[in-house]
Amino acid sequence: MAKQRRVYVCRECGAQHVTWAGHCNECGAWAAIEMASSVAAVADTSDALAPLASFDLDAAVPTPTGVSEVDRVLGGGLVAGSVTVLGGEPGIGKSTLSLQIAASMASSGAAVMIVTGEEAPSQVAARASRVGPIPPTLSVLDDTSVETIEAAIIRERPQLAIIDSVQTLSVADYDAAPGSVVQVRAAANRLVTAAQRSGTSVILIGHVTKDGALAGPRLLEHVVDTVLAFSGDRHNELRFLRTVKHRFGPTSDVGVFEMSGLGLEPVDDPSSRFLADRRPGIPGSVVVATVDQQRPVLVEVQALVTPFGDRPPRFVGQGLSSSRLELVGAVLRQRAKVDLWGWEILASAAGGAEVKEPGGDLGIALAIASGLAETALGPDVVACGELGLAGEVRSVGQLERRLQEAFRLGFRRAVVPTSAPSGPTGLELIRVDSLNDALLVLGLSVDLPRPSAG
Ligand code: TYD
Ligand code: MG
Repeated sequence: MAKQRRVYVCRECGAQHVTWAGHCNECGAWAAIEMASSVAAVADTSDALAPLASFDLDAAVPTPTGVSEVDRVLGGGLVAGSVTVLGGEPGIGKSTLSLQIAASMASSGAAVMIVTGEEAPSQVAARASRVGPIPPTLSVLDDTSVETIEAAIIRERPQLAIIDSVQTLSVADYDAAPGSVVQVRAAANRLVTAAQRSGTSVILIGHVTKDGALAGPRLLEHVVDTVLAFSGDRHNELRFLRTVKHRFGPTSDVGVFEMSGLGLEPVDDPSSRFLADRRPGIPGSVVVATVDQQRPVLVEVQALVTPFGDRPPRFVGQGLSSSRLELVGAVLRQRAKVDLWGWEILASAAGGAEVKEPGGDLGIALAIASGLAETALGPDVVACGELGLAGEVRSVGQLERRLQEAFRLGFRRAVVPTSAPSGPTGLELIRVDSLNDALLVLGLSVDLPRPSAG
């Protein structure tokens, strides 16, 4: 039996309050709280009480989308009745990716609905035809009214509904403009309910600005099941799909795509992509076995050293953490006694990649030393280890996976901390306990030249 209980609701954000107040502590609006119509707003909880063991465990089994990198990131695919936010900067490829997911699922017979509030259906069709043949079970709804979309989802019960984008939606109950906090939150709440009732998996596309400020993905994190962030580098065509939140599995893997004329193509092997343009035998270049959200990635770190006058060294990094670069510089000077006075050191992660975790320290130090010594490391050498302030080489997480990845991509020697686990057969481990030790065994500890002043 349902109890009749009064509930006060904020007109602006929809938050429920047990008592009336002049000010909504959810959204901050003044004089916006009203008594809800005398419906049974709060049900008697005993009605909903059910043994936990009675629930269908298969309900949370994901259905593959057929887009390999998406399935990898989602831990198998989309869960029925779940809501996923796909966030990213405008132009990064959210519509393209979601269209590919839609086309892939529809081509195996699933009913898929694309709700387009941003583009005309003819534009969506044009884009879809670029990516591949348009399956007959793929439909489009040109609407931004949440009530209409909700009704369509509940009536049609598609396997997947894609809403492009959440910022175009409006719920009739609220006066606020589409894209406002109130509308975005209210729309998402309604669609979460619709997804649960229909068993439809819903993907909500949301735009974010560079600083992630705009109403959208951030705001929705606690409302939805999964938040995916789609990002890329302006300078190349690689795109990265990462989980920010995932109710159904680990948020560890990264999906990598390349934007081509035929849409987004999965990149199964991102390390070899980063390393494709590498010219071996160049001093100042060292390949680092890094991890990006649990996924091992090999990145080439390059250092270029140029005379800078009679003054302290200057470090300029790109794709590297500046604090780690400074630490590496200090350890090179103070512990390995490498004289950096008078040099400007440019260090960068090649190919738009990033090395920001401590496991890159040793490789960055070796790249700088190799540049200064004008001695190239062998093309089959990879480095991995954190530098401590005492100059020691410390162990890092997931070293085994990093080494496996390096071996898979053709590396045969790895400079690693002494505590490293044994790597794959065929990969020679060069165990070093300090940076000094590493410079010695790699032949980089020759007397380094001091640049002439000027
Ligand atoms: P889009 O998916 O529209 O981005 P978003 O929805 O995140 O705003 O895609 C943006 C860019 O991708 C656009 O500039 C065109 C380009 N693009 C390709 O290069 N190849 C393609 O096959 C498609 C469909 C788009
Ligand atoms: Mg778009």
